[in-house]
Amino acid sequence: MSKTFFITTAIDYTNGAPHIGHAYEKVLADAIARHRRLAGEPVFFLTGVDQHGQKVQQSAQKLGVPPGEFVEGITAKFRALWKTLDIGFDGWAATVDPVHKACVQGMLQRLWDEGHFYKAARSGYYSVRQEQFLTDKERGPDGEFGEEWGEVVLVEEENYYFKLAAHKDWLLDFIDRRSACGQPFVLPGFRVAELRNAVEKLSGDLCISRPKSRLTWGIELPFDPGFVTYVWFDALANYISFAGYDPAPGAANEGFKVLRPALHVIGKDIVIPPHGIYWPVMLHALGFRDEELPTLLVHGWWNLGGAKMSKSLGNSVDPAVLAETHGCAAIRYYLLSDIATGRDADFSLERLVQRYNSDLANNIGNLLNRTLSMAKRYRGGLVAKRPSPLEDFVAGKVRDWEAAFAVFDAQGALQALMDIVTRCNLHVEETAPWKLAKDPELSEQLDTVLHTLAESLRIVSILLEPALPREAAAMREQLGVSSPPALSNTAWGGLADGHQLGDPVPVFPRIETAAE
Ligand code: MSP
Repeated sequence: MSKTFFITTAIDYTNGAPHIGHAYEKVLADAIARHRRLAGEPVFFLTGVDQHGQKVQQSAQKLGVPPGEFVEGITAKFRALWKTLDIGFDGWAATVDPVHKACVQGMLQRLWDEGHFYKAARSGYYSVRQEQFLTDKERGPDGEFGEEWGEVVLVEEENYYFKLAAHKDWLLDFIDRRSACGQPFVLPGFRVAELRNAVEKLSGDLCISRPKSRLTWGIELPFDPGFVTYVWFDALANYISFAGYDPAPGAANEGFKVLRPALHVIGKDIVIPPHGIYWPVMLHALGFRDEELPTLLVHGWWNLGGAKMSKSLGNSVDPAVLAETHGCAAIRYYLLSDIATGRDADFSLERLVQRYNSDLANNIGNLLNRTLSMAKRYRGGLVAKRPSPLEDFVAGKVRDWEAAFAVFDAQGALQALMDIVTRCNLHVEETAPWKLAKDPELSEQLDTVLHTLAESLRIVSILLEPALPREAAAMREQLGVSSPPALSNTAWGGLADGHQLGDPVPVFPRIETAAE
């Protein structure tokens, strides 16, 4: 059985509409998945929505609708946005799905039977208004809980706990061994030390339940109907429940095996503790071998004006509206090219327009248009195959593109592609085909230039596929290339002698704004 590249994103809370940060993560994962498909690898790309929990229950209550109805509406918004943004996922993880529920309950029952949980009473401060326990983090500078919490009472509550701390030494050892063999558990590698420090400090166990008196919108504990599980045994389990995992003791899990290990694309806020600590320990407790555990690809955050994107600010760049006004290509290209994977960036609508217009409309669009127009005018669209002075340059950039994608650096990959386009546009200026066309003695040189440009564009249309699949396909259509895009076709010389090019149709119409 051939190994499948298994890539997931964080599942998004359905407590509010999707914002540009959610969109970034999905576009990044989609580009990585499409890159692997180009390489001919089987891919399973899983994304979805996190639908349970107290916040959802509260929001639904406020609106006076059942939580199931509430999440359905928001889930529909996420799905519609992913369709608009060409997110080509293979599996959809919605945590109210009965398949998920059965898997989570199976996991919980098994871990309970094997002695990984215990029940204990803990006391703590509880906000009656917000219906949640408070920690010292919620105290104001004066040491008191602020007015927003309303009446705060000391409550003693029984809950179930997962014996997390018992696995601390194993987890430290696992993190170190993964780094030592050059396959860090967390990427980019600079995050490993941060995680390791947090694991060193790990002392308590993980509370995995809420009594139904407080929370009903969740998955019931199979061994105690008075409780639902909260939150990570529900949310994190999506990565295996929707990939066909059978939690029954001794299950063969043959189909699921081809999907391990996974690449989890997540934001920096959910590394410590959920994905970096709870998740590997849960999998370890379930009997996953170390080599079956995932790698976490941790991306940074899009901020607005240097500040964290709040719900209200986030809505000011609603990606669904932006897609209507500026188009999917502009959003995808901006989100992939204007941030370094792992780092933060500031979202700017002006930059989005500027990058689209300069890189896509002016640079690629112009090259495609002038190449097809000149070929049509001078040669009736027929390309004669000739040795090219740019062959080695382009091959080098294809290697750079590949090296960048190998480390999930979409920005670097797009830069390599854009370097080819810039070099080709320069080549047009240097060789001035309109002059060559006037002199029959220079006909051979004109053929060489036209072939160089058309062949480079053919390769660019493949390299553009992970970032902008629709536009890449439109380019190939105009170039008269019918073979499906594949990495194996990025070698120089794919266009046959006498290849017929098509007519130019703008693929990247400029975005005109009031300011321009
Ligand atoms: N539901 C949890 C994840 C469970 S995964 C088992 C969650 N949801 S979330 O909706 O709050 O965030 C979903 C993803 O979006 C996270 O990876 C988060 O880091 C990412 N982002 C949220 N805001 C972001 C930005 N402003 N910028 C980039 N990514 C951001 O956490």
